[in-house]
Amino acid sequence: MAAAAATVPSPATSFPSTTRKATVLSLRVSRRFKVAASAAASPGPDPSPAFKSVTAFAPATVANLGPGFDFLGCAVADASLSLGDTVTATLDPSLPPGTVAIAGITSPSRPHLADRLSRDPLRNCAGIAAAAALQALGVRSHAVSLRLAKGLPLGSGLGSSAASAAAAAKAVDALFGSLLYRDDLVLAGLESEKAVSGFHADNIAPAILGGFVLVRSYEPFHLMPLPCPPALRLHFVLVTPDFEAPTSKMRAALPKHVAIKHHVRNSSQAAALVAAVLQGDAGVIGSAMSSDGIVEPTRAPLIPGMVAVKAAALEAGALGCTISGAGPTAVAVIEGAEKGEEIARRMVDAFLSVGKLKATATIAQLDRAGARVISTSSLE
Ligand code: HSE
Repeated sequence: MAAAAATVPSPATSFPSTTRKATVLSLRVSRRFKVAASAAASPGPDPSPAFKSVTAFAPATVANLGPGFDFLGCAVADASLSLGDTVTATLDPSLPPGTVAIAGITSPSRPHLADRLSRDPLRNCAGIAAAAALQALGVRSHAVSLRLAKGLPLGSGLGSSAASAAAAAKAVDALFGSLLYRDDLVLAGLESEKAVSGFHADNIAPAILGGFVLVRSYEPFHLMPLPCPPALRLHFVLVTPDFEAPTSKMRAALPKHVAIKHHVRNSSQAAALVAAVLQGDAGVIGSAMSSDGIVEPTRAPLIPGMVAVKAAALEAGALGCTISGAGPTAVAVIEGAEKGEEIARRMVDAFLSVGKLKATATIAQLDRAGARVISTSSLE
């Protein structure tokens, strides 16, 4: 595995109430990460904790945005912050220094989901990202236990793994005084994405930065946040059917070759999307998001009802509609929230009548803040 290898030095003792044997993640990360994060990592002083415990939230994300496969994404949130994951990182003197353990996972709105997630920090998005953040910080004398509260469903196309990773990296960094640069936080989360869902930053970058983000390149690593005018009242109708679309399966469906005319068309639409975000032109954002002629046509048939759902959204007045990330969530874009409920109803109906799938809808806004600390507890 790329991110880290567990040597499991000793059982963590942060689970006094369970019989589960926790494993501990040692801090060895890939060469790619060490190179990228070298400025923050070594051989600097071992940083002192700033808090005893920090809780951070990271939002859901819509990756690809149609023609921006693997390089465009944005963060979205609803008013109650239910669209995202929360991680509490706590200093844990019972663990071997320099290690991470998962102390608990809850999923208040989906009780069975927590049981499906690994407590092994090597196999948990939050655990891998937290270990990479500790590595980037150069922490050698302290250990951290994590509690993850999953707000997002798995395999939904809403950046569930990235939200856990972003919240964990943010919480660990804040625990030690917020020393990491923005890109180091994203790279810590990318270690987790690489291990769990593939090497692409179009979820983790907006989950950490917020707003719209263009992933320009990996070597050198170059993210370009795309500020959009504050007056733009962009809303997203997110409709998630009762169907899992694992990213690995949806990536296996990608075309192996692309005709030059499709490449030119998709590139021009992606460029138009970037320009429209910067200019605050909701109409062009929507139509460009709807225009993917390469990836969406190969994935939509794998999601029962998706073609009809898109047609229903557009007919009901959405400015655009596409698959969110690798799916199965459908995302429609609108300006203002007024038409949101009617569009959501039509999309849910289409999933049911054509795809024979129950679906739930959420109307979200652009989340401009990204991963953030929501509470701290002081050192005694
Ligand atoms: N860009 C990735 C994909 C996002 O579409 O496979 C996965 O969430």
